[in-house]
Amino acid sequence: MAKIIGGVGTSHVPSIGVALDKGLRDTADWKPFFDGYEAGKAWMRDAKPDIAVVIFNDHGNTFFLDKVPTFAVGMAESYQPIDEGWGPRAIPPFAGAVDLSWHFVDKLVESHFDPLVCREIEVDHGLQVPMELFFGRPDAWPVRILPIWVNTIQYPIPTPQRCWDMGTVLRQAIESWPGDERVVIMGTGGLSHQLQGARAGFINQQADRAWLEGIAANPEPYRNMSRQDYVEQFGSEGAELIMWLVMRAAMNQDVNLVHKHYHAPASMTGAGMIVVENAA
Ligand code: DHB
Ligand code: FE
Repeated sequence: MAKIIGGVGTSHVPSIGVALDKGLRDTADWKPFFDGYEAGKAWMRDAKPDIAVVIFNDHGNTFFLDKVPTFAVGMAESYQPIDEGWGPRAIPPFAGAVDLSWHFVDKLVESHFDPLVCREIEVDHGLQVPMELFFGRPDAWPVRILPIWVNTIQYPIPTPQRCWDMGTVLRQAIESWPGDERVVIMGTGGLSHQLQGARAGFINQQADRAWLEGIAANPEPYRNMSRQDYVEQFGSEGAELIMWLVMRAAMNQDVNLVHKHYHAPASMTGAGMIVVENAA
């Protein structure tokens, strides 16, 4: 049985990657943000995962509005980082945990999920940025990845409960996998932000801070909230937070919140992270 060694929730703002590309890490604007991730990075170094399951959304870079899968799973040997317009990124491609991906998709279908299965696909900042935040800029990533895409950009997005259910299947898949890999689960997106419409620029720091504590200690209310509740509390793009529920559902009911960081604004978003471990 593979082992879930922890769960991570994190923002995935594109300008974080651009700040790193431009050497802005230690500028006055960015240093407090990046410094807050150092504890998470050290945790990851010590935890030594073999595989990272990364739950994220594409932002019109891989899928466009003509074709939007509600859930997609990567099955590729390798995933190239997409250039989103700021130029090619100086980060290596991501090797795929193809065997575990197949096992997971099999379990999903058995559980009446119908994912899009992707054997050739690139990954945008939704995956790139969390990987950089927790693994730095290595010559080669120390983990293989199992990417899961969730539609959070075009109505209708999946319900929070559906994301939770997918997390329970993810846990079953990992626990029924005959390998002995150490697996970290990374839910990405958020925190509160709205990039469009009448509330463009909306950030809700109070809701963000409550989320970082609540998603660890008592996720039930967040699982029961409607999609409209997410948009109201966190903004239309802040509804990306539903992807953390996939991670949280794969963990024990009781977890220890071992690291937490919040910074606002980063770009136009409340930004932050948590690291949780299963309680004994
Ligand atoms: C921004 C983009 C994102 O995908 C996100 O999750 C947060 C912020 C942005 O462009 O500011
Ligand atoms: Fe996003």
